[in-house]
Amino acid sequence: RDTDCQVINVDKLTYAGNLDSLSEIMSSPGHIFEQEDICDGKAMERIFAQYQPDAVMHLAAESHVDRSITGPAEFIQTNVLGTYNLLEAARNFWSGLDEQGRARFRFLHVSTDEAYGDLRPDDQPFTEETPYLPSSPYSASKASSDHLIRAWNRTYGLPVLITNCSNNYGPYQFPEKLIPLMILNALEGKPLPVYGKGENIRDWLYVQDHARALHTVLVKGRPGRTYNIGGNCEKQNIEVVRTICDILDEMKPANGCRIPTAGCRELITFVPDRPGHDLRYAINDTRIRRELGWFPQESFASGLQKTVKWYLDNPQWVERVRTGAYREWIRANYEMQGREGF
Ligand code: TYD
Repeated sequence: RDTDCQVINVDKLTYAGNLDSLSEIMSSPGHIFEQEDICDGKAMERIFAQYQPDAVMHLAAESHVDRSITGPAEFIQTNVLGTYNLLEAARNFWSGLDEQGRARFRFLHVSTDEAYGDLRPDDQPFTEETPYLPSSPYSASKASSDHLIRAWNRTYGLPVLITNCSNNYGPYQFPEKLIPLMILNALEGKPLPVYGKGENIRDWLYVQDHARALHTVLVKGRPGRTYNIGGNCEKQNIEVVRTICDILDEMKPANGCRIPTAGCRELITFVPDRPGHDLRYAINDTRIRRELGWFPQESFASGLQKTVKWYLDNPQWVERVRTGAYREWIRANYEMQGREGF
């Protein structure tokens, strides 16, 4: 919406991808869609040759921790080998550019704060110097990809940038993640499955703020540098879920929704914890604030309101993403792991 650049959108369209999410921009001349897999080296080579990009923003990843616990192979495949493939395709293209083109080119790798491991309640938030200590197959695969990116910069001089961001939320998020899952379960009057005691802490960032941060880093960031991105918004899971309940109670959605008359909080159900569950994430975002002038603009209260409203206003999108495969995942994750009643 906010750029004159032409964007080539490369996506494999796995279970979490959905062309409906692009309907607003599908006919825009500034946007071209290519359904390809970053693990396919030949396809990546073709795309670089065909479009001659000035920059790559690498956001393609398997990203759901619970799925990485039940099936780690795809995380290694896409996040580690896929990143390697994309790096090699980028390096081949970049090394064929003239000096000016090489100096201008950027490869932005979008990563996660989970690569740093987790924090105890009194620990200082993660800085860009915090050692990597990932806990889950997901975070280990992202940490691996970050190491590859750094090595391609140091060894070959590829002008890379890395961002490590905290938990995102907002419209279009696939309903396997905490916030959309809770909104949609509540609307159907289903239990709201809170892992363990709900005391785990995440640092929440509205997706639009993240998108602005990525654009800022791409345009103004120093090659070879890492930037942490966070919402400055630490919340316990139980607090997040209760806030969603209160927003829904207040909005009083109609149209066949099954929220109990006593209120949504009735639906909160504590279920067995995620294995290896990281206790707390928190980001120190001093570098990106000071060096690039970025800071989050959306408050959690207004961001969450907008998010709940978006899911209420887009039942068709919701219906289309909840395919048979989605329902099977919910059954596998919540029933088979002793999380009854889902
Ligand atoms: P999630 O959205 O999966 O993100 P991440 O694991 O990358 O932080 O989960 C956010 C938090 O919510 C995390 O502490 C796990 C917890 N959670 C639940 O309590 N219940 C759920 O059904 C889900 C999906 C997550």
